[in-house]
Amino acid sequence: MKVVDTIPRMSTLVKIFKKEGKSIGLVPTMGYLHEGHLSLVRAASKHTDVVVMSIFVNPIQFGPKEDFEKYPRDLKRDEELATSAGADIIFSPSVNNMYPAGYSTYVNVETLTSGLCGASRPGHFKGVTTVVAKLFEIVRPDISYFGQKDAQQAIVIKKMAEDLNMGIEIKIMPTIREKDGLAMSSRNIYLSEDERKDALVLHGSLMKAEEMIKSGERESRKIIRAIEGMIKSVPSARLDYASIVDTVNLKEAKVLSGEMLIALAVFIGKTRLIDNTIVKGLK
Ligand code: PAJ
Repeated sequence: MKVVDTIPRMSTLVKIFKKEGKSIGLVPTMGYLHEGHLSLVRAASKHTDVVVMSIFVNPIQFGPKEDFEKYPRDLKRDEELATSAGADIIFSPSVNNMYPAGYSTYVNVETLTSGLCGASRPGHFKGVTTVVAKLFEIVRPDISYFGQKDAQQAIVIKKMAEDLNMGIEIKIMPTIREKDGLAMSSRNIYLSEDERKDALVLHGSLMKAEEMIKSGERESRKIIRAIEGMIKSVPSARLDYASIVDTVNLKEAKVLSGEMLIALAVFIGKTRLIDNTIVKGLK
């Protein structure tokens, strides 16, 4: 496994791989790796010859009051975990290398980014699509892997790749959870012991929504009310949003039909967590 920390060095390696006819898989991350990230590396190593994992805490996707400075970082630990999962290269450029003084080009996907996390975190997706577009240009992957955990992000990136004819396949892999159901996230480290227990309300309320749907409920308002009720019953929890949208346009649905994404963001204490579930085949 190689750690590459400059763009020119990464580009040179990519040229060599292409000349050798090797396919490249890219797993973009912000590091502080957990099983969710590693599941993406494992998938990539099944499908592609060379697996590149990028580790870059991207300043431009954080709002001014968000956790860019204190976002957890541990490159040594990440190197070991990524290697054991099958990564061939860790690409970890510096902020100055990615955004030198005078940097002024951004990629923005419209419409799909206006709701859900886009509404609560203005500018966030513009930062995500810009960095991912840059990583795509540098690494030139055949396939890139993203997690269902960040459902809107995955859909937005898929749209960007299509709209800009990038010729990169975007694969979306299932959410990996702790045994008790909490979706794995680098931000779970922020939770105190009590908050860690309270955080189960995200998955719990999604399960409740699924149960209601199984029992025949199709009215979005009623399901959302039940989710809101569950979140309210947990003192350290504050709902940012709970939405039921279609999985293509991310438009809110009054009545559930076809394939729906139920997505929520909840503050547990000061930590903002997200989770979601997809329900299919609704009539
Ligand atoms: P990060 O939060 O580090 O996540 C990197 C990738 O891992 C994303 O595709 C995310 O959806 C996936 N992931 C995170 N938790 C997961 C889980 N529990 N199960 C499955 N996949 C999971 O998302 C980002 O970084 C950044 O926005 C990035 C795309 C790297 C751009 O900066």
